[in-house]
Amino acid sequence: MQNTIQNIDNSAPIGVFDSGIGGTSIWNEINQLLPSENSIYLADSAHAPYGIRSKEEIISLSEKNTKLLLEKGCKIIVVACNTATTNAIKYLRKKYNVPFIGIEPAIKPASLKTKSKVVGILATKGTLSSSLFQETTNHYKEEIEILEQDGTGIVELMEHGKLDSVEMVNLLQLYISPMVEKGMDHLVLGCSHYPYLIPILKKILPVEVKIIDSGFAAAKQTKAILQLNNLLNNSKEIGKHNFYTNGSADVLKQILENRFNVSALDF
Ligand code: DGL
Repeated sequence: MQNTIQNIDNSAPIGVFDSGIGGTSIWNEINQLLPSENSIYLADSAHAPYGIRSKEEIISLSEKNTKLLLEKGCKIIVVACNTATTNAIKYLRKKYNVPFIGIEPAIKPASLKTKSKVVGILATKGTLSSSLFQETTNHYKEEIEILEQDGTGIVELMEHGKLDSVEMVNLLQLYISPMVEKGMDHLVLGCSHYPYLIPILKKILPVEVKIIDSGFAAAKQTKAILQLNNLLNNSKEIGKHNFYTNGSADVLKQILENRFNVSALDF
């Protein structure tokens, strides 16, 4: 295990990474819950999508992101990507002596709430094929039917600034309609890019189908782990945030400024 962080300062930033812009949905939940915390967000958009890559590639990219955030002095790493969490977090936790927060599709709350006993999961191919995801779903498969849908193409459209496009509506319709026909009453969003699709999904889905994502749970977990390690920032000031991307700064800016009214950020 590499001891990368010693004498951690409470005001050190929270490091957040994703394969692209999607993890900003998790960053936003954390920022809402912990407004005094500083943060550094890393969008590895040049290598998106992770979902079509091999486990080895996902581990190697996740490690590169982790190293970068640790070099910048982060006190905790939020893997704001289901694909990276399900494929790489075990490896990262073993190798780096810093707390890691991961995100996984929220199957448990969906399984507790479903009445039709049919739950749909929209996630990347990399998440659905991971052993961590398979282990989790196997646990629920005796009680509920789980419909897995691979969302190939969605991340690509978003990373090219085509979130609100006809192509996106058509693709979502193609993926969602068969699950609705099979009686799904809860749709689990298993990718941090997907919460941005909620306005479109609400137009496509029947009103009785509920959408579940893991953003708030990840933020709560971040708070709990910071608390446990005495790492919460006690400052009364509003946190400072830096955003880095190796892809299009415009696409990242657009999502932050349009959705969260965040401006004057460092890129
Ligand atoms: N936001 C990533 C996730 O949560 C997208 C993965 C990808 O790049 O395919 O899975």
